[in-house]
Amino acid sequence: MSKKIVILASGNGSNAEAIMRHFDSSTKIEVSSIISNNRQAGVFDRAKRFRVPCLWMDKKSFESDVVLDFLLTEQPDLIVLAGFLWKIPASLVQTFPNKIINIHPALLPKYGGKGMYGAHVHRAVKESGDAHTGITIHYVNEHYDEGGVVFQTQVEVVPADTPDTIAQKVHQLEHKHFPLIIEQLLTQ
Ligand code: GRF
Repeated sequence: MSKKIVILASGNGSNAEAIMRHFDSSTKIEVSSIISNNRQAGVFDRAKRFRVPCLWMDKKSFESDVVLDFLLTEQPDLIVLAGFLWKIPASLVQTFPNKIINIHPALLPKYGGKGMYGAHVHRAVKESGDAHTGITIHYVNEHYDEGGVVFQTQVEVVPADTPDTIAQKVHQLEHKHFPLIIEQLLTQ
């Protein structure tokens, strides 16, 4: 039986797509479903293209046992947060220890924590004058961006970079590495 990934995504879903594409022809690992909290999220169209069921959940369901029950039925081997903006309830973290990972678009512990997502992160990197930024893939615990680091890699930031070009560089890194790290975690 193939190993199952459930992805949680709030937005555009380009990382979700990179993961679905990577495992599309795999016989060992599959993206079994995607959960989104945003009906308008681009991830719905992307999921459709890969014939992956995508379901929407409101905050009440997410923070109650609805999501927990769904995941207990689904029995994923890995839960992947790919641009998911809500805090993960403690009940999920406790039920799936070391089975929930997140990708953060900077080199944690820098530029992490509540409110640090998307363009906020890249603007802060630009303003800091740092010569590098990067990505962090980490386990999820009860605190934003504080779980154990699985993988980090960096990219140069040059003076001509804008928050937008930094975002592009970071997305390229994410699409390249995130599916491979997921594969490693599921096959090690
Ligand atoms: C990514 O940059 C990821 O690091 C962050 O949210 C962004 C999601 O982008 N957590 P996308 O929706 O996968 O395009």
